[in-house]
Amino acid sequence: MNTALKRQPDRLYERVRAFVPAVEWPVLATEIDAIAELKRTRNAVILAHNYQTPEIYHCVADIVGDSLNLAREAARLDAEVIVMAGVYFMAETAKLLNPDKQVLIPDPEAGCSLAESITAEDVRALRKRYPGVPVVTYVNTSASVKAESDICCTSSNARRVVESLGSPQVILIPDRYLAANVARETTVSIIPWHGRCIVHEQFGAEEVRELRRVHPDLTVLAHPECTPEVVAESDFSGSTTALSRYIDDQHPIKVALLTECSMSDNVSVEHPEVQFIRPCNLCPHMKRITLAKIRESLAFLRHAVEIEAGIADRARRAVERMLAV
Ligand code: 13P
Ligand code: SF4
Repeated sequence: MNTALKRQPDRLYERVRAFVPAVEWPVLATEIDAIAELKRTRNAVILAHNYQTPEIYHCVADIVGDSLNLAREAARLDAEVIVMAGVYFMAETAKLLNPDKQVLIPDPEAGCSLAESITAEDVRALRKRYPGVPVVTYVNTSASVKAESDICCTSSNARRVVESLGSPQVILIPDRYLAANVARETTVSIIPWHGRCIVHEQFGAEEVRELRRVHPDLTVLAHPECTPEVVAESDFSGSTTALSRYIDDQHPIKVALLTECSMSDNVSVEHPEVQFIRPCNLCPHMKRITLAKIRESLAFLRHAVEIEAGIADRARRAVERMLAV
C-alpha cells in the first residue's frame, strides 16, 4: 500500500467507491493526501460547489454548498488561503468578501454561460432604458456586472431579494428562466435578460413526462435555471442545497435531480436508500476543476483572483446587501 493510502483512511474510498474505480484510487489518494498536507502548511481551506466531482466534494472539500452557502461561509473564514473548487464567479465572490486573503481558482477558464451572457455596459444600457428600476443580479455574473447592480441574489433567495426592494418593477438579470420562474411566484413585475444556463436549458418538459410514465413513483426535483415548463412538471424547485435538503427531509423513494450530473452522485453518498434516476447534463466549466489542479493551485499559489478596487467596492456592496436580506 502506498503512503497516501496509509495516511488517508479507507473511509474516504468507501464514500466514493461507486464513482471511482478501484484501479484509479491509488492515484487519486496520492493527490488527496498531498492536498491535505498543502492545506495544513498553507493554512488553506477548500470551498466546493455541489457540482464538483465526488472525489473533490467528499475527499478534499472543507465546506460544500450552493452559491449562497459558499458566499456566506467565505465571509466567515479565517484561513489565509481560500481555494474555490467551483467556477470563476464563485471565486470572485469569495474574493469580494475576503479582500485581504489569497483566493485561488484552480482553473481560471472555469466560466459560466450565464456570466458570459451580460456585460457591465449591458447593465448600464438597461438602467437607461428603465430609469429608476432596481437591478437584481444573479451571482452567476462577473464582478463588473455586480458593480453596476443594486443587489445580488442566488437561486435560493431570488424571490426574497426581489420582494425586499419594495418596488413594483425589478430588473432581474441575466438568467431568463430564473427570472420567469421568480415572476410566476411574485406580484413584482420582472424585466428579464436573455442569458441561459447551457446545462439546465437542455432539460425538456416532455422528457420529464416520459420519466414519470416509466417511473410512476418518481419525485422530480428541478433547479430554477430550468425552463418554467420543466419547473411546472416538477414536484419541487430550488437551489442545489434546497434540492438536497428536500431529499433529507422528505425521504423520496426514487428521485430525478434535473441539474448537473455530480449533484446526484454527491447526494446519493448520503442517501444509499434513495434510487437516483440520472437524466443529467454535465457543466463543462465545473468539470475543469480536478484534484491535480487543486493540488497545483495550493502548491504554486495559483491562480490568484484579483478585482480592480473601484469595481470590487461596488460589487461587494451588492453582495453584502444580499447577505443582509
Ligand atoms: P446554486 O446556487 O443553486 O448552487 O446554483 C449555482 C449554479 O451555478 C447552478 O447552475
Ligand atoms: Fe453556469 Fe450553468 Fe455551469 Fe451553473 S451549471 S456554472 S449556471 S453554466
